[in-house]
Amino acid sequence: MRYQLKQIHCRPWTLSGLSLKLIESHYENNYGGALRRLNAITEQLESLDFAKTPSHVISGLKRDELTALNSTLLHELYFASMGGEGKVTPSMAEVLTRDFGSVQQWRTQFSAMGYALGGGSGWVVLTWMPRDGRLINQYASEHSQSVAGGVPILALDMFEHAYHIDFGANAKAYVDTFLRNVDWQAVEDRYGDAAKVSPPRPVVQPEFGDLPGMGVEEVRDMLAAGKPLQVIDTRPKHFVSRQQDIADGVTWRDPERVGEWMNELRKDVPVVVYCAYGFHVGCRTAITLREAGFDASYMKVGHSGWKAVGAPIHMTT
Ligand SMILES: [Fe+2]
Repeated sequence: MRYQLKQIHCRPWTLSGLSLKLIESHYENNYGGALRRLNAITEQLESLDFAKTPSHVISGLKRDELTALNSTLLHELYFASMGGEGKVTPSMAEVLTRDFGSVQQWRTQFSAMGYALGGGSGWVVLTWMPRDGRLINQYASEHSQSVAGGVPILALDMFEHAYHIDFGANAKAYVDTFLRNVDWQAVEDRYGDAAKVSPPRPVVQPEFGDLPGMGVEEVRDMLAAGKPLQVIDTRPKHFVSRQQDIADGVTWRDPERVGEWMNELRKDVPVVVYCAYGFHVGCRTAITLREAGFDASYMKVGHSGWKAVGAPIHMTT
């Protein structure tokens, strides 16, 4: 499988004390980079014959896959964590007080963990523990101590204490024996429970109803395959003058003047428009075009998403 890029969840221009440059670079280079690494590793894994591959190659790739996957998931959660005013809601205050003594105590602990990582690396994550019915603050060092949002349904303990008494150093015999002892009905039941946990919430833009949106990967692949598609970059003027780069094969048009340039478009070929991140400008332009009778949709993740998947781009100056 290939992992698909998610739209940046917070509106970057609404953040206080965090520059667009910082957020864009983080989204495009670090989040996008993790996703690109993840897909490259996945591709490599899919081409392996696991039965014949040396164990150091398998463990290296699977370790790298876990790191890239968790980096991808945690960055999505990170961007989805911002965009508010930092004020704990009354019901969250109740929950934090129940699990940490008070909101302040939770905040002190969470901050201290963040401070302690200064000069190092890792994540501080507030995590729901379904087992214990409570929240904890956890580290996810190097991205990979736990899968964010994961609910495990089958576990094999590979610490030596789990097999040494019976199998000595023969770990393979232990694994085979373990697999012969798995209670698959219990695994199926746990799967049923885990599947009820909702996925991360998508970006909600109720003001645009069910306006059709396309993923950046689909647009990129259609353009690369030479399929008929009219792709228009409609970032506001001030964005274009600040960034000075544009996607290959795409024309920029001022969203303010859609009434003029729409006459250059063909009605029998689908139109895709996008703005900086996939929010209101691109959506509004797509709606205007649809009202004028064009087969128009918007590209969900915008110009930043185009760069985050590493699609071709060139400078305009
Ligand atoms: Fe990051």
